[in-house]
Amino acid sequence: MQKKDSVILMDENGKRRDGRAPGDLRPIHIEANVLSNASGSCYLEWGGNKLLVAVHGPREAQPRHLQDQTKAIIQCRYNMAAFSVGERKRPGPDRRSTEISKVLSEALDAAVFTQRFPRATIDVYIEVLEASAGTRCAGLTAASVALADAGIPMRDMVAAVAAGKVGDTVVLDLDKEEDNHGTADLPMAILPRTGEIVLLQMDGHLTADELDRAQTMAIEGCLEINRQQVEALKKCYQSDDNGADNAGYADSDGGDADTAGYDDSDDGATDNAGSDDSDGGDADNAGSADVDADNAGSDDSDDDDADNNEHEADEKIDDDPQVTETFGSGGLDPNVSLFDEKEGDE
Ligand code: CDP
Repeated sequence: MQKKDSVILMDENGKRRDGRAPGDLRPIHIEANVLSNASGSCYLEWGGNKLLVAVHGPREAQPRHLQDQTKAIIQCRYNMAAFSVGERKRPGPDRRSTEISKVLSEALDAAVFTQRFPRATIDVYIEVLEASAGTRCAGLTAASVALADAGIPMRDMVAAVAAGKVGDTVVLDLDKEEDNHGTADLPMAILPRTGEIVLLQMDGHLTADELDRAQTMAIEGCLEINRQQVEALKKCYQSDDNGADNAGYADSDGGDADTAGYDDSDDGATDNAGSDDSDGGDADNAGSADVDADNAGSDDSDDDDADNNEHEADEKIDDDPQVTETFGSGGLDPNVSLFDEKEGDE
């Protein structure tokens, strides 16, 4: 029996307040493609958390000083609704949401093939509707599904979960009470294909051995979460006219067949975004309308340097057998410049 601040977090049988064993996740429900006006979206329930994530773009980054000539920037905005917690949260950004937005942007940046979209921004809006601990991990998990739904090419979907310590026990996926009264919280996110860690934070104290065990537990949790992400995408696109049409895109998108954001094959290498020249619909599929319009007037000559860098980077990635590109098969054609220089001029 373990107590802290008079709250019983674990019973004498090693079960947690909600009956979970130390290595168990809270129940998760993921739904992709829930918003018709976003390029991609995801609704996620995880324990007592409810989140909605929408992706917009790629689109030209404005103001222009934000632009990176070699790659897209990921602008993630994590926001907790005023009604998402017991005590009304003051609306608007605060230090916590600014920090979470930053670390989530960086984690997603590691997953997305940003070199494909020089000077663009990919906006990721994470709206926390109900919060019950683990919202940054839930947001990251849902954001990856929304990016895949948007047809954004990625190395892999980021999967995230926190491990931590309750009394003397290392546990997975802390709930609100455990987060408040436990002794450590370790949010972690990985790219499941490679095991690369893209987010690791720690609040509290763990010994080196406990840190090891917490990381191992979190990795196992991430792999299970990744299976559920994949299932959610499969469910969404398989039920939709055999996956031939992407519900999130206008029917006029001729190339929709490839926008399903997820490659059913296990090798994950079949649908190489942008490398499938036969996919004449690439430009049209580009996660939506903004880019389509700009492609029409693009001036490739201006972008030679950026494009070359981008191709070098992509070739390196394509050469790496460990890193196969799975998602966003109908994404943008990397040979097509996103923006007309003249349009961007101010
Ligand atoms: O949500 P996450 O665990 O990623 O971040 P946290 O900063 O460790 O917050 C833990 C939990 O505290 C949140 O999930 C909310 O349930 C709660 N919280 C709150 O009640 N009011 C806030 N202003 C911020 C967080």
